Amino acid sequence: MSIKKISAMAIAGLMTLGVVATFAQDAFVAPATPEEAVTARKALMRTNGQTLRGAGALTGDQAVAAMQTLLDDYTNMPALFPEGSIVGESEALPAIWENWEGFTAIIETGRAAAESGLAAAQSGDAAGYAAALQAIGGTCGQCHQQFRS
Ligand code: HEC
Repeated sequence: MSIKKISAMAIAGLMTLGVVATFAQDAFVAPATPEEAVTARKALMRTNGQTLRGAGALTGDQAVAAMQTLLDDYTNMPALFPEGSIVGESEALPAIWENWEGFTAIIETGRAAAESGLAAAQSGDAAGYAAALQAIGGTCGQCHQQFRS
């Protein structure tokens, strides 16, 4: 890989981080090493699963909080997959970086669903909230099928 390509990627990475830092409401810190990235994304994935499983039964402020968590998680997700970060116990596939657009398109589907689910939770729109949870849930398997070993 050329130096030029590497620095272009670094700049793109920094821009991504800037966006994340601007919009994320939690104190998200991007991983500094591939090992940190793997640990952080495994933890985030497990939290996502728990949040999603519990979210269907929630209403009111708790539903709002669950959707905010999912929105933050999907917003932060791309930064947890720095290029080539397959180390240790990682089940990530190289396809992630060979098809970064496809990978991030799935994340964007989940992020957009969480955004509309958040609005639905805030306005007490139970059907919109349930539809958003279903759409978010769909992205889990869709991504794992293509991008996880
Ligand atoms: C855009 C892709 C993508 C989406 C969306 C996604 N995942 Fe994952 N998930 C991955 C990848 C890649 C891994 C493997 C990460 C690694 O091992 O480095 C993973 C790993 C996991 C793991 C295993 C964690 C561990 O400890 O090894 C769980 C559980 C999981 N995901 C649950 C979920 C759930 C639940 C959702 C939906 C709410 C979800 N994921 C959405 C890509 C995704």
